[in-house]
Order: sequence, then structure tokens, then C-alpha cells
Amino acid sequence: KRIAVLISGNGSNLQAIIDHQQQHAELYEIAIVISNRPQAFGLKRAADAHIEQKVIDHTEFDSREAFDAELQKLIDSHQIDLVVLAGFMRILTQDFTRHYLGRMLNIHPSLLPKYTGLNTHTRAIEAGDKEHGLSIHFVTPELDGGPVILQAKLEIGADDSADSLAEKVHRLEHLAYPQVVQWFVEDRLSLKDNHAWLDQNCL
Ligand code: GRF
Repeated sequence: KRIAVLISGNGSNLQAIIDHQQQHAELYEIAIVISNRPQAFGLKRAADAHIEQKVIDHTEFDSREAFDAELQKLIDSHQIDLVVLAGFMRILTQDFTRHYLGRMLNIHPSLLPKYTGLNTHTRAIEAGDKEHGLSIHFVTPELDGGPVILQAKLEIGADDSADSLAEKVHRLEHLAYPQVVQWFVEDRLSLKDNHAWLDQNCL
């Protein structure tokens, strides 16, 4: 199988997937890494792993539609089975999400449906939540609203700050995301009737 990973920044989740892929080279290949920001550190991670990298700078496009069309053209020219959003900080058009329906994943740093959007760690602390975590979901036209595949939780301690929580969530993300990618490329995970289905062999 061939996957594309889309990033905007640091790319620590990309790194976790690169490390996983190197252990499971028979299962899949990271065919391309795409960033909408030229300075994204994740591009260097891809280069170090000898993965093709491309920048499509969103500031050079007049509209979301034009940007997404270019992105789609690039992805589809690489015969991609799965699109993995890993810290890709762009809202995608409905057409784009429909085109990849059932073959695009996102990771979000909250226990969805809580805290869609930004600043999730601060919002969880300010709300006095006892727990926090991450969600991995299929991408649908609704922002951060697609069917959840997997969540990982952690307790919020009295001395946790937004930074300490972010770090803990990141550590969990790096365990969880490669596992979900693996299920998909093993054909054990699919989107049916707006639900995520895992085959029993995953257990
Ligand atoms: C992660 O926290 C992810 O949940 C969110 O963006 C962050 C990306 O971090 N969507 P990184 O670039 O993978 O380090």
C-alpha cells in the first residue's frame, strides 16, 4: 500500500509513522510527504528518511478550492491508498474530503466530540476536565467530526499545564497513529455507513 502524509509543522507524528514504516516495509510505503508550509520541520524528517517531499504553499493560492485542487492532483498522481493528516493545519473543502472519503485519516488532540478546533489542551484545563486525550478519525466534510476509530485517554493532574498535557498527548499520539495506519493498510479498518469498522483480527 502507498500512503501520503500531509503536515504543516514539526512532524513528530510523521516521524512516528516513518519509524513504524521502517519496521513494516512489507506492508506499506510512504510515497510522499506534503506540507503547506515551506519551513515545516517535518520536511527535513522526510528528507532524512529519503522520502519524496513537496510543498504546496497555500499563500500562493487565491482560494481554498484552488489549493485543494492542486493538492488532490499531486496526491492522485502518486497512486495513494491512504491520506494521513498529521498536524496538517488547513480546513479542507467538501469536495476534497468527499474525494478521499474512507481513505483519509486525521489525528486530533482531544477526546472528540469535545474541543474541535484549536487550543484543546488549554480548553480542557480551563473546563476543569479530569481527563483528556486524542482521537483518530476518518475525515468527513464536518471539521473534526468524522467517525472516531480510536481514542487514547490520560488523567489531567492538578499540576498539569497546557504544555505538559500537550507533551503527554503527543507521546500517546506516537503510539496510536502508526497502529491505526497499520490496521488500514492491512485492510482491517474501513468506513461503512458513517462508522469506523475494525475487523476482529485487530484484537
Ligand atoms: C498533533 O497534536 C495533532 O494531534 C494535531 O497537530 C499536532 C501535530 O504535531 N493535529 P506534530 O507536527 O505531529 O508534531
